[in-house]
Amino acid sequence: MTLLEAEHVKAYYSIRNSYVKAVDDVSLSVDRGAILGLAGESGCGKSTLVNTLMMNIRPPLRLIDGTIVLDGIKISEMSRSKLKKDVWGILVSIVPQSALNALMPTKKIVDFVKDIFHYHTDMSRAEIVSMVRKRFEELNLSPEILHLYPHELSGGMKQRVVIAISTLLNPKLLIVDEPTSALDVSTQKQVIKLLVDLHRAKIIESMVFVTHDLAILRQIADKIAIMYAGKIVEVASTDDILYTPLHPYTRGLVNAVMTPESEVRKRGITFIAGEPPNLLNPPSGCRFHPRCPYAKPICKEVEPPIIEVRDDRIVACHLVESFM
Ligand SMILES: Nc1ncnc2c1ncn2[C@@H]1O[C@H](COP(=O)(O)OP(=O)(O)O)[C@@H](O)[C@H]1O
Ligand code: SF4
Ligand SMILES: [Mg+2]
Repeated sequence: MTLLEAEHVKAYYSIRNSYVKAVDDVSLSVDRGAILGLAGESGCGKSTLVNTLMMNIRPPLRLIDGTIVLDGIKISEMSRSKLKKDVWGILVSIVPQSALNALMPTKKIVDFVKDIFHYHTDMSRAEIVSMVRKRFEELNLSPEILHLYPHELSGGMKQRVVIAISTLLNPKLLIVDEPTSALDVSTQKQVIKLLVDLHRAKIIESMVFVTHDLAILRQIADKIAIMYAGKIVEVASTDDILYTPLHPYTRGLVNAVMTPESEVRKRGITFIAGEPPNLLNPPSGCRFHPRCPYAKPICKEVEPPIIEVRDDRIVACHLVESFM
């Protein structure tokens, strides 16, 4: 059963007379009850893709093509005002990459929460406060936090507070964009535990977890989608991605996870030489060909089709059969 289904989605940043092709013909689905990891190097389009999946699109970003269906509703055709009223916060919430700055510095957490939810629901401010207190208790967050200013909280606590607030209305899908990247390892664990608790308690049904670090997905994801230069190049179960990666780019990322050098891991950089391409003018054929150790002449000429190598496992590479 699918909760979210995106088909042939293109979302480009329109700059002067050209486009940054940040999401270029992506099809992706999120199963009900599942946690999907989305991984790839910085700049490959992860944040653009997840914002597009919930139709959080603002100029210069534009949805150029494709359809997105969430919980049976074609949200790709909805107006921003309707999305605000009926979809965001209710069916889907995002904890954006810059979430640590999302809270208003001049407002206590409780006032911030009252304002956003009063606007979105028919509840009174008192009802909102009692709901938030209850939810905080449920998630082992002290309700006293509500009476603090954001600067009085540590980075990890702020992130947990933002996650708790974002899921107050029990959205079916929660998207978290690099929620642990700015945090140290022990704080990362607390944030991941909170996300797992939300999922186990069925406060949220499904989750998309974005990261450049595959090692984190090993702990939490059922399935992983690998993105490179605006395209999804492989989707498989977490074990298949980690233990039998098929796409040459996935293999590079996995090698980076296995390395003991924390600096390499932190940057999510592979053992593959070269830089990710400029998405204003991406390479022809397979976008990975300038960096791929296996590239053949066809790779430069023809874009590899997405091949379903097994149920629930797709790879976009001309040579996939020779890797199996
Ligand atoms: N507002 C913007 N205007 C133009 N280009 C952008 C904008 N935001 C992001 N980009 C470009 O889109 C591409 C994808 O960015 P992003 O989705 O942030 O990648 P990731 O989250 O994987 O790091 C990058 O090339 C980035 O430079
Ligand atoms: S299609 Fe060619 S260049 Fe692209 S990943 Fe496969 S082998 Fe490498
Ligand atoms: Mg990002």
